[in-house]
Amino acid sequence: MKVSKKIINLETESAFAILAKATKLISEGKDIINLGIGQPDFPTPSNIQEAAIKAIKDGHHGYTPSNGILPLREAVSEKINQDYKVNVNPDQILITPGGKPTIFYSCLILGGEENEIIYPDPGFPIYRSMINFSGARGIPLKLAEEDNFEINIEKLEQLITNKTSLIIINNPNNPTGSFMNEFKIEKLVKMLEKYPEVFVLSDEIYSKIIFEDEKMPSLLSYEILKERLIVLEGWSKTFCMTGWRLGWSVWPKKLYEHANKLCVNDHSCPNSISQYAGIEALKGPKEEVEKIKKEFQKRKEFIYFELNQLNNMTCFKPGGAFYAFPNVSKSGLNGQRFSDIALEEKGVALVPGKSFGETAENFIRLSYANSMENLEEAIYRLSFI
Ligand SMILES: Cc1ncc(COP(=O)(O)O)c(C=O)c1O
Repeated sequence: MKVSKKIINLETESAFAILAKATKLISEGKDIINLGIGQPDFPTPSNIQEAAIKAIKDGHHGYTPSNGILPLREAVSEKINQDYKVNVNPDQILITPGGKPTIFYSCLILGGEENEIIYPDPGFPIYRSMINFSGARGIPLKLAEEDNFEINIEKLEQLITNKTSLIIINNPNNPTGSFMNEFKIEKLVKMLEKYPEVFVLSDEIYSKIIFEDEKMPSLLSYEILKERLIVLEGWSKTFCMTGWRLGWSVWPKKLYEHANKLCVNDHSCPNSISQYAGIEALKGPKEEVEKIKKEFQKRKEFIYFELNQLNNMTCFKPGGAFYAFPNVSKSGLNGQRFSDIALEEKGVALVPGKSFGETAENFIRLSYANSMENLEEAIYRLSFI
């Protein structure tokens, strides 16, 4: 069998393997609390559900333009122009089945054997997998616990060479929950100004889940990056729509058609029903989304306090997303062993830090997108490891 080398090199996302394992254990009657997968535990807000039902009844069952329906791209453009005081046209916006295709397309367009792509480590595992798949050399940018897992700008600058085609930034960050505020992002942009040939993929999928009244510093606000900035965003996390598969991205004009061609080749168009629901999500009432954000803030405080009371781990304070990333060295175990015991003996599904990069061996990722009752019980169970 002659399977392509590229396919053999493709990696995966451990959170999905852990979800499958946890689901199997649950189906066998085991009592499992799943803090592995990163998705909101709330239902999709009711106005969005209604909009989807209406779209089906209105007969929106056919293919749509590959880049998404115009009213949806207009709604995205209005929303980001309003949120960030920018001027992004609907013809720069691409609608895709979730946020992931944006990573895939960015790496296919800017990767290849000649190029180097810098990515966060620890970071979302799909970055490294897609970089390798493209043939480019992946250059990990270490995010250190002592820097609060924020980007160390000097370290990043040292990694840039004349082969660097793309830098991937993720703020707020998965898996660490770290958040870089406006002041720090401004310093980053100042450094990036010196390298006008280098493109930036800013993964802002958690932009609406930030705490302590901080404002999201989108890279879209920096005119200087406009010609070389790709922004990944979507409905999955903000509107509890992970399974609806709907994402948006903003592309520089010179790359847009390449990305759109990949859409036609890959999936023809995004799901038509989800697109109509996506308009309602952006334009309709936001009370349910606000309530969810407050609930995440409450859980974050609870989890941060409680994890630091345990004698087998320490945890830095998350600033965004819905993840905590404790260091479990105090337990005498590495993250993999800790997670194995947590699932097999204590019934708590977690993701070992190593899944997000070599540097995170002593960490675990815990998603607090779960009820307070389950979080309390999970903390109790983890205290016995
Ligand atoms: C950092 C990051 N980027 C992108 C994605 C992909 O999101 P989607 O489910 O919309 O494809 C995720 C999902 O977990 C993520 O954590």
